[in-house]
Amino acid sequence: MDQINNLYGTTVWFTGLSGAGKTTISQVVEQVLRTEGYRVERLDGDIVRQFLCKDLGFSKAERDENVRRIGFVAHLLTRNGVIVLISAISPYRDIRAEMRQNISQFVEVYVNASLETCEKRDVKGLYRKARTGEIKNFTGITDPYEPPLNPEITCYTDYESVDE
Ligand code: ADX
Repeated sequence: MDQINNLYGTTVWFTGLSGAGKTTISQVVEQVLRTEGYRVERLDGDIVRQFLCKDLGFSKAERDENVRRIGFVAHLLTRNGVIVLISAISPYRDIRAEMRQNISQFVEVYVNASLETCEKRDVKGLYRKARTGEIKNFTGITDPYEPPLNPEITCYTDYESVDE
């Protein structure tokens, strides 16, 4: 039993390609849950990488380490009754499975958008840089993404609205 003082938190883990909509959806979920009075924390890959994971790059080993650190924080918060919303590409199935084992309540959300859609959106201009070779090991272009096989939830952001 991992819950402290009978508090029940949850980790909701959003995985998907860069630009699929993980951050956007988790921000909306955060708003809704806060309005309903829940205690919520959001761990976003882009932000975590500026602080807790500043030293990490994008090799498999470093992405796995990024996910492990995020998962460790999520584990601590979850057992203290917090709803933790994680948005990180987290491209590798094995490490996501490890997180599911380590965190007492775990919901995997596959934010599913085609590479074509993500590349068209190219919110941060990174796909263009990946195509020209300015960025190496870019997920979906020159680095793999392993979609979840049995996610609790799938959001199809190619055609679903944020509210859906
Ligand atoms: S993860 O693979 O380790 O889970 P994470 O979600 O933390 O990735 O960070 C991904 C973000 O880093 C992207 O949204 C993008 O802004 C930036 N980034 C920079 N280089 C890369 C790269 N080679 N592959 C993917 N994302 C990259």
